Amino acid sequence: MKCVDDFRLKLAGRELVPIVIGGMGVDISTVELALEAARLGGVGHISDAMVHTVADRYFKTSFVKERLKRYKYNVANSDKSSAQFDLGHLDEATRLHVGRAMDEKRGDGMIFINCMEKLTMNAPKETLRVRLRAALDAGIDGITLAAGLHLGSFALIEDHPRFRHAQLGIIVSSLRALQLFLRKSARLNRLPDYVVIEGPLAGGHLGFGADWAQYDLAAIVAEIAAWQKAEGLNMALIPAGGIFTGTDATHFLEQGAAAVQVATRFTVARECGLPEDVQQEYFKSSEEDIEVNGVSPTGYLMRMLKSSPAIGDGIRPNCEAFGYLLDVNGSCDYIKAYNREVAAHPEARKVSVREKTCLCTHMRNFECWTCGHYAYRLKDTSRRRPDGSYELLAAEHIFRDYQFSKDGKIALPE
Ligand SMILES: Cc1cc2nc3c(=O)[nH]c(=O)nc-3n(C[C@H](O)[C@H](O)[C@H](O)COP(=O)(O)O)c2cc1C
Repeated sequence: MKCVDDFRLKLAGRELVPIVIGGMGVDISTVELALEAARLGGVGHISDAMVHTVADRYFKTSFVKERLKRYKYNVANSDKSSAQFDLGHLDEATRLHVGRAMDEKRGDGMIFINCMEKLTMNAPKETLRVRLRAALDAGIDGITLAAGLHLGSFALIEDHPRFRHAQLGIIVSSLRALQLFLRKSARLNRLPDYVVIEGPLAGGHLGFGADWAQYDLAAIVAEIAAWQKAEGLNMALIPAGGIFTGTDATHFLEQGAAAVQVATRFTVARECGLPEDVQQEYFKSSEEDIEVNGVSPTGYLMRMLKSSPAIGDGIRPNCEAFGYLLDVNGSCDYIKAYNREVAAHPEARKVSVREKTCLCTHMRNFECWTCGHYAYRLKDTSRRRPDGSYELLAAEHIFRDYQFSKDGKIALPE
């Protein structure tokens, strides 16, 4: 019987352990977590979501404070189009964040950055261009294009000196999305090096509609693999979503996947950015505690714990400080939902907004508890302490469990 370690991910002429820890936005997949994946010979992700906040946390910069000071006059206005991002600050914050990861990287693995297109930041093209280029300048090993079709993203970096050497990949949930991306970037003669195929059981935003449960990751992977073979292409295919054990991963590798991308198992790692009390919520959850809902203002469905404080909260929109989901017109679906509630309850001191959530604020505060479908199995991966809480795990322990376990088994910590 084989295990994950019997396979290797071939990228950039190198051979890696075929385990990719997926990007988990707003500092859930921390630099520390990514460093562990790289040290152990796999691939770790950092994320550039709300990079100013993340930089402020680690470098004692004050990007967010300065932004709020500049736009404070606009807080009561629902038109946020004037609250533009300072591209110089965005560049600086990204370089600090990526630079730290790359400076501290040890071992044979790689560190990639997850760049979500849905972070439209009041000026989608201009801000994405800065984010991608600054990450490349700061030496990131690879960029994973996420949360969007990214039809114009390669063009934003085509003249960058590292465009043909850095690893570039995209997350898709269907063959159609991949074909669309390839068609739109065909003129650049630059295929993605890898394609993460994310199925319906993943954490974070989903690339499926309300019928997500009808889809099957293995079937989507098989369809894309068959098409790639027929086309004579050779992109590394990396399934993601619901791969909970080393044995699950090995099945995909035996079917020809180049690696697997996993995330939920690492939400209870000590190196993960979630505060411990939130990690305990993940451990304690049961299957009925997890839902796929439409509260994200991005328009994508998202999976999360039903008890997430973000759900139903009616905080005033914080776009002058954050504003990462503002569209090109300076609007966000949360602002609209919030304004509707305020208009309906003019006397209320605080409203509840069920329809959408202020995702920037709540992700920043670790109050949107997004997770994969199998989060309820996390309790089977650790030991329970006498007080009823669960032991957090070392990222190395989880990584090695994926790498070496067989027979559907999960190794408990020593
Ligand atoms: C807490 C959490 C946050 C996530 N955030 C992001 C994100 O910011 N961007 C993204 O592309 N995917 C995100 N994902 C998806 C993961 O990167 C990954 O592809 C997926 O969750 C893998 O499935 P698994 O969690 O069942 O292992 C997130 C997943 C989790 C669990």
